[in-house]
Order: sequence, then structure tokens, then C-alpha cells
Amino acid sequence: MSPPKGSGPDVRAADLIAPYGGRLVDRVVDPAAADLLRSEAARLPTVQLSSRVATDLYLLAVGALSPLEGFMDREQYERVLDDMSLPTGLPWSIPVVLPARSEEVDRLRPGERAALLAQDGPVAVLDVTEVYRRDLKRECLAVYGTEDSAHPGVAALERLGDQYVAGAIHYMGGDAVAEGVADDEALTPAETRACFLELGWRSVVAFQTRNPIHRAHEYLQKCALEMVDGLLVHPVVGETKADDLPADLRMTCYRVLLEKYFPRDRVLLSALPLAMRYAGPKEAVFHAIIRRNFGCTHMIVGRDHAGVGDYYDTYDAQRIFDQIDPDELGIRPLNFEHAFWCRLTEQMATAKTSPSSPDERVFLSGTRVREMLARGERPPVEFTRPEVADVLIAAHRHA
Ligand code: ADX
Repeated sequence: MSPPKGSGPDVRAADLIAPYGGRLVDRVVDPAAADLLRSEAARLPTVQLSSRVATDLYLLAVGALSPLEGFMDREQYERVLDDMSLPTGLPWSIPVVLPARSEEVDRLRPGERAALLAQDGPVAVLDVTEVYRRDLKRECLAVYGTEDSAHPGVAALERLGDQYVAGAIHYMGGDAVAEGVADDEALTPAETRACFLELGWRSVVAFQTRNPIHRAHEYLQKCALEMVDGLLVHPVVGETKADDLPADLRMTCYRVLLEKYFPRDRVLLSALPLAMRYAGPKEAVFHAIIRRNFGCTHMIVGRDHAGVGDYYDTYDAQRIFDQIDPDELGIRPLNFEHAFWCRLTEQMATAKTSPSSPDERVFLSGTRVREMLARGERPPVEFTRPEVADVLIAAHRHA
């Protein structure tokens, strides 16, 4: 699906929301320097990246985590855990850290450099400034609100090395970070901003998702679209938990839906190579900061945003924004209550807009939807558009 064509009003770069911290970080080295860096990397001590950290590295490089220029040091890490901010006072909710194993750490020296290895070899060089021991319990409680190993975010942390390496990065890796997702489907912050300029969008709402877009999601997006110039559908395509759907399948669902049910010139679809943390409220803030860097002025926050199981209250991820100075954060959350198809009013609704009783509301659990799709049955059209259901049913058949 090609991006929409620009014919919007004249918008200059200064009209777009500024990147977080004021400047879009760019840590991607140019091709000539990358060759030199690659030969240097071959002689350096190494740190092997998990796929989750490899996506963080990529996002740091392209400025999606501006103003960060590399992995956090102990001072930044502790301020994020204790005060939900960077040492500069700028709100920040989730540590961006480089875990390493002790045999790797033994060969690292502050003031020297290290090569960061993805699956296919070196992708970056790190200016090592500090190596420090993480505080797992404090980190789990601050970020996830639990130490329970059954929480997928906690479990992911437990699998990683327990020392963190800090420093600025020099990135020489490529674009392609998610299996089955083409490079031109995962735009960088500079690229989405260029699109918004061309399209003449000053106000842009981001939609974070890790699922196919069902009718409830579509409703939130369309309510938001009534108020802003454009919509960035921005699904995460980094590491997710095993029972979430694969990124390439979700991308197919988004394409068929957008093609038929959304105005072509008001929506941009781009994949975000970010690993889900399932940290609910803390992740909602993190998601918002990232979307600001991509040029968005608003982000949809619905029910149980980035939640999992029963770890968070339904609207925790909305309430956390009350603790943050809206002018510092810049990007505004657009809060939505639980949306459903309402049989009484015959439209999508929430309890804010419909007087219906619970039995007049179409509600299907994720498990029930999966069972229907596995049997080759389309969920009701009030829940999922048939075109999306058909993509999911076909995927079940080929599984
Ligand atoms: S998430 O982990 O990315 O939050 P999901 O893809 O299910 O999961 O949700 C994407 C966005 O839609 C989130 O902001 C979430 O809160 C919101 N959302 C999902 N379903 C509903 C619903 N039925 N009503 C209101 N908001 C919803």
C-alpha cells in the first residue's frame, strides 16, 4: 500500500510538533563512515543483542527515542524508575538499557568502545561510559508494578543479562527489523514527518496497536479523525508475546481494512519496530513520547492500553497522564472508554454515548474470537469487518 499523496495546505517543518527534547536525534552513520566502523568493530569486544534490544537500538539510531543518544547510564536509569523522568526533568517512563552477560562485561572498559552484535553480525559501535548492575526488583515494581514472573514484561527482563552497559551509539545496521515487514512499511521519524509535511497535516493522531483492527479500534480512530488532520496507524512489530499475532499477518489485516473503510488521504500506515513491554500505564507514556518523535500531536489511549491479564485497572493508562505536565509531554492523549457495538442505538458506542444495558452490547473475548476464526467462522460484522476476518481465517487454515 503506497502512502497517501500530498495535496494538503502549505505546512512548514516548524508547524509540526517539535521532537521530544527539541531535536531529532540521528545516530545512523553515513555509508562511507560505516565501512570504517565495520572494520573497527571487528577488533572490539562485543555485546550480543537480543531481538528486543536490537529494536531499541534501531529506534535510538533513527531518533524515535529522542533525546536519548544511546543506552541509559545508572543516573538516568534510577531517575526513570524513581521519578518517571530523565535527570534533565523531562518525563520518561521506561528504561532504555543494554543488558550484557558477565563474560561480556569483563572485557568492557569505560572510555573505550564495544561492537554491538545482532544475529547477522555487528550493527553498531558503542562509546562505553559505564557498566552497572541493574536492580531487578526495583525495575520490575517501577515499570510493571509487579515482580510476578508470569507477567510477560517481567519474564522478558528475567531472560536478559543483569548488568547494563551505558553509552552513545553509532549505528551502521540496516532498516529491516521485523520479519515479513518491508523496509518501506516501517518509516523513520524523519520519514513520517516528511509525509505529514507533504500531506499538509499539522495535527496527527497516533494509533498504537498490537492486534488486528476490530470495529472498536476503528471507532476510536474515526472519532479522533473527526478532530485532527490525519491518522498514523502505528502498529508495533517488534517482539510480542507468543499468543499475539505475527506482524506480517497484522499488516495484511491493516491494509485490507484501510483500503476499503478509510479515506485514503487521511491515513498513513507504518510499522513500528518496537518490542511490547505490556507495562500498561508506564508503557502508554513511553508510547506517547515515541509517537511525538514521529511527529504526532495526539495519541489514542483506550481501555487497558498495553495491558495484559489483570495487572492494571482498565483506565490506569489514562490516569497516569495526570501526573505529567502536559506542556512538557507535548503530545496529548485522547482517552476513550470501552467501545462496543450497541444493539439499542445500532452503532458503535461507549457508556458515555449510549444508555444501553450490558446485554445490548456486543462483546466477544479474544479467546472466543480466536475459536471462531479457527473454525473458519467470521465473527459478527459488528465486531470485525469481514475482509479482516477472512485474512485471519485464511491464516488459520495455513497454520
Ligand atoms: S495495545 O497493547 O496496543 O494497547 P490493542 O492493540 O488491543 O492493544 O489496543 C490498541 C488501542 O486500542 C489501545 O489504546 C487500547 O486501549 C485501545 N482499545 C482496544 N480495544 C478497545 C475497546 N474495545 N474500547 C476502547 N479502547 C480499546
